[in-house]
Amino acid sequence: MNVSNTAILGLQWGDEGKGKIVNFLAGDFAAACRYQGGHNAGHTLIVNGKKIILHLLPSSICHKDALSLIGRGVVISYEALFKEIDEISEYSQGIPERLKISPACSLIQPYHNLVDQLKEKSNSQKTIGTTLRGIGPAYEDKVARRAIRISDTMSENLLRPLLEETLDFYNFTIEKFFGDSPLALEELVEENLSYGEKIKPMLADVSMTIKKLNLENKKVLFEGAQGALLDVDQGTYPYVTSSNCSPTGIAAGAGCGPLDVQDILGVIKAYVTRVGEGPMPTEIFDDTGEYIAKAGGEVGATTGRPRRCGWFDAVLMRRVIQTNSIKGLCLTKIDVLDGLDEIKVCKDYENQDKDNVFGECMDLDSVTPVYETLSGWEKPTKNIDAYVDLPDEAKAFIVYLEKECGVPIRVVSTGPDDQSTIIRTKA
Ligand code: GDP
Ligand code: IMO
Ligand code: MG
Repeated sequence: MNVSNTAILGLQWGDEGKGKIVNFLAGDFAAACRYQGGHNAGHTLIVNGKKIILHLLPSSICHKDALSLIGRGVVISYEALFKEIDEISEYSQGIPERLKISPACSLIQPYHNLVDQLKEKSNSQKTIGTTLRGIGPAYEDKVARRAIRISDTMSENLLRPLLEETLDFYNFTIEKFFGDSPLALEELVEENLSYGEKIKPMLADVSMTIKKLNLENKKVLFEGAQGALLDVDQGTYPYVTSSNCSPTGIAAGAGCGPLDVQDILGVIKAYVTRVGEGPMPTEIFDDTGEYIAKAGGEVGATTGRPRRCGWFDAVLMRRVIQTNSIKGLCLTKIDVLDGLDEIKVCKDYENQDKDNVFGECMDLDSVTPVYETLSGWEKPTKNIDAYVDLPDEAKAFIVYLEKECGVPIRVVSTGPDDQSTIIRTKA
């Protein structure tokens, strides 16, 4: 096989600009595939000057010649899916034919949302600052082998006993543990069957669709949601999401083999952001943090919560680049740093061995960043589309990050739209 499937993944705590990059590249691929996460994601694209935020649909959805695939590793809320399809149909025609969803996807049910919300507001439970979309509980059910999958909603005979058993379990927890009102079975059965009927034309064997495309020499783009530092195994546990956002999740979640991904590109922002709780060693607490948050529009695309901002952390990046077979990087939002006199980059942590600073447990609570201070640039980078046109100090920043990260920065993004993109090298 000489096709080259590519993965685009966030390497920080999400919101690196994956949506823009996937939409920008999708025209070169026969399909794009989401393989994990759910509608906790918020991926922003600009299509014909319009801002579109996608939560569940792959960011290829506005490309009329590309298929959009949702693999079995994605957890689906029927309500969120159909709401998004309705909203997007203004910009994207032919969705039933171009959107293909695996019937093996686990469903997010209303009891998952409720438990997520009750847990997050409870005084006795650890809070993570989740998106309250029921993601964690839905993945819990998948691993506990009691998930309701899309295929189960194709017939009442299949669905009813499964839902009855699971709802018994959840209503016990909802009533006895959280002291809230139980959910009714009949409504859930009806709702699931009606959505099951509606989704039928979009169902396909996603795993074999990918195989078939590859056999026809057509390439597939895998779109990660969240980011490596939110990965349930590799991230800053327990302040993570409940899936494998990293390349390890692709084979399981899309249904292909681990050798079916030939190129893995990491998306990194020129600084870092985080929504929700958990450690962030380079967090900026002064006016500069507020300046970056404002200039970068750092407000959660899904929940509207403010994103915490910090300086670029090369120590964390080196680790995730090495452990995720990252071959190249897309650096986004350098324009947000326009106007700063100085830009800091965390190149090390104090008193720590450079290559083994926190180990596999990502124990970041007590690390102290060591910063390199680089010069800012006077001429703005916003909307520049050729590397030669960047100010020298911006080029020096890019080269410095590249050296610290150890892999080439192939794409530089200078604004939210496609035109504001610089292709540096082709691998
Ligand atoms: P994702 O979750 O990784 O797809 O990222 P989000 O869409 O949540 O957040 C990225 C935000 O930055 C969105 O509002 C994008 O429109 C915007 N964006 C993406 N790339 C750039 C860029 O290079 N410069 C600026 N200023 N904004 C960008
Ligand atoms: P995209 O794909 C940023 C964060 C939540 C919370 C933690 C767990 O747009 O980059 P969850 O609801 O998944 O159980 O919440 O993960 N989180 C994200 N942060 N971008 C995202 O998606 C996120 N999806 C989840 O804020 O801290
Ligand atoms: Mg986002």
